Amino acid sequence: MDTIIQAKGLHKIYGETIAVDNITFEIQRGEIFGMLGPNGAGKTTTIECIEGLRQPDGGTVQVFGLDPQRNEYEIRERIGIQFQSAALPARIKVGEALELFSSFYQHRVEWPPLLEKIGLADKKDALVSKLSGGQQQRVFIALALINDPELVFMDELTTGLDPQSRRAMWDMILDMRTNGKTIFLTTHFMEEAERLCDRVAIVDHGKIIALDTPANLIASLNAENRVIFNCSNGLNLELLKNSTGVIRVERLGERVIVYGKKEGLLSGVVNTLETNQIPFSDLRTEQPSLEDVFLALTGKEMRN
Ligand SMILES: Nc1ncnc2c1ncn2[C@@H]1O[C@H](COP(=O)(O)OP(=O)(O)O)[C@@H](O)[C@H]1O
Ligand SMILES: [Mg+2]
Repeated sequence: MDTIIQAKGLHKIYGETIAVDNITFEIQRGEIFGMLGPNGAGKTTTIECIEGLRQPDGGTVQVFGLDPQRNEYEIRERIGIQFQSAALPARIKVGEALELFSSFYQHRVEWPPLLEKIGLADKKDALVSKLSGGQQQRVFIALALINDPELVFMDELTTGLDPQSRRAMWDMILDMRTNGKTIFLTTHFMEEAERLCDRVAIVDHGKIIALDTPANLIASLNAENRVIFNCSNGLNLELLKNSTGVIRVERLGERVIVYGKKEGLLSGVVNTLETNQIPFSDLRTEQPSLEDVFLALTGKEMRN
């Protein structure tokens, strides 16, 4: 194992607010590691302490075995940080921004192929500020990759993007991992964490409340699968309760939700409905997700 980031007992306070409360984790080379949590959970503060942009009030941080406060320049050469537009001069063009960022580093890649790769070769002379949100985010990724970093930080990379741009962004991140980079990202999108991350730390109120692979987090819930359908007729819920794998049944108006264990649940429900000639529509299944994990751990929905 090659530990790239190590945070031990990380603590950060702003006045009365404990933004980061005794956080400990490690990130290994080649991982996509995500911090998932609602707004205000302490994600940005954590990532900034690790980047060396903020000084922790307690605990230790090591990046490549170095101290971000003491070895700032050495670390800076080897990491990529996805900045927001505010970090760029107002009337800068795409090519100029890449040229500018190139000049910050000793080790760097040629930027025209990078621009090609993010699909913006024809935007070299466009103002960054005039690009669409998705295009701007891609430019910020290119800027973060200009020094061919070993480790890339991305804070809420896809916030504000349309679904298509978000997907394009996900592809780029997976591509980075294929190219051997280590990625530390934060997000408040469950689906993003689930799709992208090798391991996820779920954070709330400055604390890590769970840390594992998305699959393990979901499996640890021992959560129920759901079969959902609409039924306008009077339906004897007892019939369904006796069907294979069913744990409980809820009815909300026309909508019926059957909770149960995965094995045989769907076929059992469909069988019961057909055998009893109960008309139904819009039947679908839902697997447990990180959404359910967050709900189970905190008692609240993440989008609130
Ligand atoms: N510069 C700051 N000064 C005072 N409070 C801050 C500052 N930055 C963040 N906070 C507070 O610290 C907590 C964590 O914020 P943040 O790290 O930005 O969370 P997240 O990125 O998960 O939304 C929040 O309660 C936030 O209001
Ligand atoms: Mg944040």
